[in-house]
Amino acid sequence: MILIKNGRVIDSASGLDELRDVLIGDDGRIAAIDACGEIDCDLENVEVIDASEKVVAPGFVDVHVHFRDPGLTYKEDVVTGAAAAAAGGYTTVVCMANTKPSIDSVEVFNEVYAREQQLPIHVLQAANVTMGMQGTKLTDMSALKEAGAVGFTDDGVPIADEKLLLEALKQCKELDVPISLHEEDPHLMYSPGVNYGEVSRELGLGGAPEEAEYVLTARDIMLNKKVGAKLDIQHISSAVTVELLRQAKKQGIEVYGEVTPQHLAATEDLVRQRGSLARVNPPLRTEKDRQALIAGVADGTIDMIATDHAPHSSEEKAKDISHAPSGMIGLETALGLVLTHTYHTGLIPLETIIRALTINPARLYNIDGGYLSVNGPGDVVIFDPDKLWLVPNHFASKASNSPFIGDELQGRVEYTICNGKIVYCLAK
Ligand code: DOR
Ligand code: ZN
Repeated sequence: MILIKNGRVIDSASGLDELRDVLIGDDGRIAAIDACGEIDCDLENVEVIDASEKVVAPGFVDVHVHFRDPGLTYKEDVVTGAAAAAAGGYTTVVCMANTKPSIDSVEVFNEVYAREQQLPIHVLQAANVTMGMQGTKLTDMSALKEAGAVGFTDDGVPIADEKLLLEALKQCKELDVPISLHEEDPHLMYSPGVNYGEVSRELGLGGAPEEAEYVLTARDIMLNKKVGAKLDIQHISSAVTVELLRQAKKQGIEVYGEVTPQHLAATEDLVRQRGSLARVNPPLRTEKDRQALIAGVADGTIDMIATDHAPHSSEEKAKDISHAPSGMIGLETALGLVLTHTYHTGLIPLETIIRALTINPARLYNIDGGYLSVNGPGDVVIFDPDKLWLVPNHFASKASNSPFIGDELQGRVEYTICNGKIVYCLAK
């Protein structure tokens, strides 16, 4: 058993924000949440963690990670990916399906899914919307859902064909699963990874204009208007897209949004400083966009903070910016980046950040997690919201493609507990 004493327990699902003790039983579930000093238990069989001055929250839930398994395991695999997640405070993650082969058949799904069941945290798997992510033929969504897929996505590649997407939305509605979309209209792109504007001009790149994102998002919101599927707009990067979601929600259209820690923390200026490491699809944009994303999380327009943890090898990222692949790792820096750049600057309350990291993604993806309650899952994170630390140059992840290496961040995960077991503990 684990007894977590004297922590500030924040649970967005119940609205709890009080100093409490939390007991997790040997069955891996929460046995008690009580006023400090009130829990009666046999101290001989209990591991006690002093959480004074710390926050105790549900283990984080990330609905957007790339563990590169199968086929691209020189970048990451399910074991190292899960270790990176645990180190970041995550107890549940959803893997994207742009692997090699991509997850477009039950056969491929089952192989990776079996290995994902053996890990210390809950690693869930999404499947493709279209065969080989080619955008021409739908996968057998019903069979993939039956096999265990928690959602459908061609993340990495936008879906151009409206009729096909409409059919996919209808099937996802029928199956009651989220469909998550990467919104960058290929017809409006000059080159991916760097915002179209000042920085792309300086670097002599074409650039990725914000229109590419908001035009495709507008199309897909309208395609979903009559269907009502759980439409999840991934890694929103533009102020205009945030406003689109705000208006769509006002009209009662079913749509949800993700934002990444990097889009909340940084702008295109980071590309000047860190080059290829800051190349990501969709790109980091302007301070105006960043502020709009923050306001979107603060007012609930953006439901979820999801990392888009995208590992690549050092050799790949050492290429010049027009040839290096897009993406950055994110699991181990997520909390620090978000707290440093939104909470400690007074822009988003802690409770709202925790909501976007826990219960909102859990509810959308129908995951039993993201909340703290007696008999609920013993999935808990303990973090120090004020602790200063420097982002190191190596990680639990197999990869180290972070443009934040060397940055000082405020807020650090100290323990991650999954199913009642300590799966990560910060070295003292
Ligand atoms: O920058 C990105 N990298 N964006 C994506 O959507 C995919 C990801 C990857 O798989 O590397
Ligand atoms: Zn994507």
